[in-house]
Amino acid sequence: MEQYAVFGHPIQHSRSPFIHQQFARQTGQAVSYRAILAPLEGFADAVAQFHQQGGKGANVTMPFKEEAYRLCHHLTDRARRAGAVNTLWWDNNGALWGDTTDGAGLVADLLAAGVVLQHRRILVLGAGGAVRGVLQPLLDKQPTELVLANRTAEKARLLAADFADLGKVQGGGFADIDGSFDLVINGTPASMGGSLPDLSRVTLAPGAACYDMAYGAGQTLFQQWAEREGAKINLAGLGMLVRQAAESFNQWRRVAPDANPVLQALKAELEGKA
Ligand code: ATR
Repeated sequence: MEQYAVFGHPIQHSRSPFIHQQFARQTGQAVSYRAILAPLEGFADAVAQFHQQGGKGANVTMPFKEEAYRLCHHLTDRARRAGAVNTLWWDNNGALWGDTTDGAGLVADLLAAGVVLQHRRILVLGAGGAVRGVLQPLLDKQPTELVLANRTAEKARLLAADFADLGKVQGGGFADIDGSFDLVINGTPASMGGSLPDLSRVTLAPGAACYDMAYGAGQTLFQQWAEREGAKINLAGLGMLVRQAAESFNQWRRVAPDANPVLQALKAELEGKA
């Protein structure tokens, strides 16, 4: 069995072991995958120890994604842009590689739902690490324009400037939002905390899609807003979670698992809790 793991703090509720164990079974890969609680001050040591004990690769979740980025000897282009890493592996020389698959997972989930990105107007709410991590894969799909709106407007402006070479992207505050959008993505954790960003200036184009990168049992507050606004497609981040895992699995094993049955299983479990 080749060993993989996810490092985080906390890690107890991580779905990654379930997801990767299903992928291994489905593809017939001899892979084990477990969750490891790394001490807040001991991430690098925990990763080194895992490698010494035979670990082949790992996922990284909160709060270690930026530290993982700094630890890597080699980065994929999208990880360098993201400034964060969620997927690690060692090459034959023992050098540590880092990638981020979150954005690819988001785009895969949007495409699976039939959402078109090319030549569309996209609004992204938030300008933190989670949003930075998905911008390159979104811009690679060549939307007409990508607008970043954030509570702290300056942060959105700076983030937009970092990606301006990849397409038309502009940042500002919620009060600067103008026109209608074909896709609105919530990249703030606000709807989990019982509040929503100020969406009073957001208008959905006919047939628009909404996506909450967060998810929970039942609809998130953002999804409830999207439903009231008549969004045609209304998704939350569980699909992104499963599809980013599929991207990581493929990066390690060069085998693409089918994310759909695993997503169905997780959805059924969450709906049971709602
Ligand atoms: P993450 O890594 O999850 O993106 P982060 O880097 O701390 O976390 O970023 C959180 C994002 O959610 C930020 O864009 C934050 O807005 P600010 O930059 O103004 O702080 C946004 N956010 C958090 N709580 C919010 C709320 N209640 N309303 C609106 N935006 C919120």
